[in-house]
Amino acid sequence: MKATATANSNIALVKYWGKRNNELNLPNNSSISMSLNKLYTTTTVEFSNGIKTDSLIIDGKKASKEEIERTSKHLSIVRKLARKEIFARVESKNNFPKSAGLASSASGFAALSLAATKALDLHLDRKELSILARQGSGSASRSIEGGFVEWVKGSLEDGSDSYAKAIAPNDHWPELTMIVAVLTKKEKKTGSNAGMEKTPATSPFYKCWLDTVEQDLEKTKKAILEKNFSLLGKTAEMNCLKMHSTMLTTEPHLIYWEPETIKVIKEVLSLREQGTECYFTIDAGPQVKVLCMKKNSEKIKKYFSAMKEVKEIFVCTAGEGAKLTEKDLF
Ligand code: DP6
Repeated sequence: MKATATANSNIALVKYWGKRNNELNLPNNSSISMSLNKLYTTTTVEFSNGIKTDSLIIDGKKASKEEIERTSKHLSIVRKLARKEIFARVESKNNFPKSAGLASSASGFAALSLAATKALDLHLDRKELSILARQGSGSASRSIEGGFVEWVKGSLEDGSDSYAKAIAPNDHWPELTMIVAVLTKKEKKTGSNAGMEKTPATSPFYKCWLDTVEQDLEKTKKAILEKNFSLLGKTAEMNCLKMHSTMLTTEPHLIYWEPETIKVIKEVLSLREQGTECYFTIDAGPQVKVLCMKKNSEKIKKYFSAMKEVKEIFVCTAGEGAKLTEKDLF
């Protein structure tokens, strides 16, 4: 009754922001992401009859009450599927700072879903795993598959048609690179869950977000399949700015950017003006992710590494989907 899984984090090129069902994490719009090969979570789950409650260690420390509750809630879905009343010891390790806009909940809930179902001998297929992971964190539905994926929003009330599907595998476009610049390791004040609850009801721009997201999805799919970097970068950058416009105009406002974020944005724009094609995208946190082609990645990495605002840098290409491993954490 013990299993370990790893899952890569993913960064959305067309973002998920706003839910039609908070309990099941059903989104108002579909989204598209790229899995990141250098950012991952490893999670070991062991169910045992001898324990009375679930426990959780993240990165060597006892998790907070909220984190334990969220994990326990997720494990209860797995327990229900397996028809077993049994608790688990869970240990999880990220190779990057958690809760700072690097999608640790995505890789975390994807790894947890795979490890927990395996530990209870449930054999879910990729679609079922994606549906399960989605209930822990929406973006986790996209970390089950590798490469480039679309999380289709679905329309059914029970969420059985809201899951991530592969657009192209991780070796489809090896030149495409995402450079993740970590600017601050502070945990953010408002998580995505609390943040996106307010936007649909209060931002006057949210309707515009929904009205234009379909076009962004079409353009992004086309750009991935045709390996059209300019189309991909332009669409992703604009989609990110549109999402942040809805965040900024939420009541109370959601300003996830720090001064360092703006500095890096400006540098991306200036590199582009000088002829090095690159684009930025940012999630619900201050970190900036820069999209570029492999031929420019070393130059861009050096450029950003030299900035005092950049604390750590990860140069990623498309990663694999969640997988089981023999390397247990305990
Ligand atoms: C801005 O998946 O973290 O990163 O479903 O409430 O857990 P919950 O939210 P989460 O939100 C991610 C929002 C985003 C955009 C994206 O990844 O698509």
